[in-house]
Amino acid sequence: ARRVVVSGAASGIGASLTRMLQEQGDEVVGVDLHGTAVCADLSTEEGRAGAVAGVLEAAGGRVDAVVACAGLSVPEPTAVRVNLFGAVALLEGLRPALAEAGAPRAAVVGSITGTGVVDEQLVSACLAGDETAATARARQMTDGGSGGLIYPSSKSALAQWVRARSVAPGWAGEGIALNVVAPGVVRTPMTEALLDDERMRAAMDEAVPMPLNGHAGPDAVAGALRWLVSAENTHVTGQVLYVDGGAEATLRGPGR
Ligand code: NAI
Repeated sequence: ARRVVVSGAASGIGASLTRMLQEQGDEVVGVDLHGTAVCADLSTEEGRAGAVAGVLEAAGGRVDAVVACAGLSVPEPTAVRVNLFGAVALLEGLRPALAEAGAPRAAVVGSITGTGVVDEQLVSACLAGDETAATARARQMTDGGSGGLIYPSSKSALAQWVRARSVAPGWAGEGIALNVVAPGVVRTPMTEALLDDERMRAAMDEAVPMPLNGHAGPDAVAGALRWLVSAENTHVTGQVLYVDGGAEATLRGPGR
């Protein structure tokens, strides 16, 4: 059985993935604020260190795969702290353990919104690994009324980080596949209130058109993550897989 670490395992996509992995006989070490084997706050350095230590203890040092699902869409600095810095810290912190596994894999959850309008200053601070600068920029954005761009900026930075790291020493070189699954609109507690509000729902459908089967359930996204972190995936790395009902193809057009 493979041992898979899933952050955000208490809800939505992470909970769905946890159930799928357990159904196929894998062992899951869940990380979340509450209700998981390892409880930690991935928005803080202390919480991240506790998460890595807690996982290594729970997993007895053996980790076959890591999936960073934890995230939040509030227009506040905490969104970039969890979505980008929390995910990166979990992946980097567990990389030495992953490198010891026979078929190590990692994946993160990005978002279709990362392909749209972002704040370049925030993205740059993220890619420089400068959490102090990123937090300060996000605070300015929140106070200045553009807090809504924190989430897409965090997801753009996350995808760019994966693209760069996947082929850098320590990942591909150690046999660790590293990918992004970028969903469109998924029915989870994160989107429940938005989808219940007719005006918000119409705005989301305009921003994220999903001609193939409309809004996704969490299993659609979890299924893609499950395959990407399975031993079967030997050669897909550095990719952003849009699980979005055709939103990315609609918005960006055919291209090359
Ligand atoms: P959710 O709200 O159901 O689950 C997110 C989980 O992350 C929760 O269990 C929450 O407790 C955990 N989390 C939040 N802050 C945390 C922290 N500081 N420390 C530890 N855990 C924390 O949301 P959902 O929809 O399942 O989201 C999962 C991922 O999918 C997120 O990264 C989200 O940004 C992404 N996503 C979701 C979309 C959607 O339409 N629902 C669309 C695109 C991306």
